[in-house]
Amino acid sequence: MKQTVRDIDVGNKRVLVRVDFNVPLAHGKVADDARLRATVPTIEFLRQQKAKVILISHLGRPKGKVEESLRLAPVAAHLSELLELPVRTAPDCIGSAAASAAHALQPGDVLLLENVRFHPEEEQNDPDFARHLASLADVFVNDAFGAAHRAHASTQGITAYLPSVAGLLMEKEIATLSQLLHAPEAPFVALIGGAKISTKIGVLTNLLKQVDVFVLGGGIANTLLKAQGIAVSESLVEDGLLSVAAEFMAQAEEANVAVVLPRDAVVGSAGEANSAGRVVGIDAIPEDTMIGDIGPATVEDVKAVLASAGTVLWNGPLGLFEEERFAGSTRAIAQTLAGCAATTIVGGGETVAAVEFYGAANEISHLSTGGGATLEFLEGKSLPGVAALQEPSQ
Ligand code: 3PG
Repeated sequence: MKQTVRDIDVGNKRVLVRVDFNVPLAHGKVADDARLRATVPTIEFLRQQKAKVILISHLGRPKGKVEESLRLAPVAAHLSELLELPVRTAPDCIGSAAASAAHALQPGDVLLLENVRFHPEEEQNDPDFARHLASLADVFVNDAFGAAHRAHASTQGITAYLPSVAGLLMEKEIATLSQLLHAPEAPFVALIGGAKISTKIGVLTNLLKQVDVFVLGGGIANTLLKAQGIAVSESLVEDGLLSVAAEFMAQAEEANVAVVLPRDAVVGSAGEANSAGRVVGIDAIPEDTMIGDIGPATVEDVKAVLASAGTVLWNGPLGLFEEERFAGSTRAIAQTLAGCAATTIVGGGETVAAVEFYGAANEISHLSTGGGATLEFLEGKSLPGVAALQEPSQ
């Protein structure tokens, strides 16, 4: 693991903390504050050490221009409530306004700079821009696990100019996800869903080394089923990846990894969200329908697998749970995981949202704050925002 905020002296220093406050907004308010709450321990730790805390984040993809709807003011307001102190703001993240706001800080104060992606130089990882950001502070802390797969000025470039360490959220994410890759408690069950096998094949292949049972749903399962010759009618399938899907099944067999695929499904017609779904056997998907969820018999298979699991990873819903007719498996699995004795790790924005929606979030061992970052980490890739941090001193 890299050095963390615990390894350096931050007392009375200006500490620039990269956070991932890329959160959904609705009606000018934060709609889901999981990423904010996850960063509170780092901010509180720094405040206790009498640091002057300067937070920097992106929000959305404004493509290097100021976009009024992507200002961070609603985030600052919400964070003020969580921290029970007024979070200061600055109208920009560089320049004289940012510098004077940073220099006015007293120990324990917290400042949130404006959206760093309002500057094109951020995503270009421009060294001059990174140097300007660095000039605001004495120390850099990266707590933005969700953005650690980006080699941007505020995640990577800046580390050339300041002592750079991990925050407590970053430390927890890396430690928890590393455990999955290197020493998960067996049996390790990975529930992987979502629309496209193309976005998950790297994770599936890399996890073959550790996983005992894969449970696959969503469009991923459709593609695997079609590759096995099952007629999935109008279901979402990546036809260009049928050979990749077949190859994965062969690799799993060779590695002695069990793969649970749907043996029944809830089907319906597209565009009829308010109609009821119909349960059918997997080899009897009617023409003109699509698979919207794994069926109840398959859900029972999944529950049986989870009952004896030592570790469970869940990434990607197994059904289109935003439609009630297809929400059955997501609800059942969220509730089963809540009562599961295993170490449970849930990653991916939609999956975390589902777990929260079904009231299971507090019972999950770890809710990852990363989307793309979590996937890249589980693929075994090095994340630039992590790689650039200081190694522990010998
Ligand atoms: C995310 O939400 O996954 C991160 O904040 C990264 O956002 P990005 O995909 O726009 O870089």
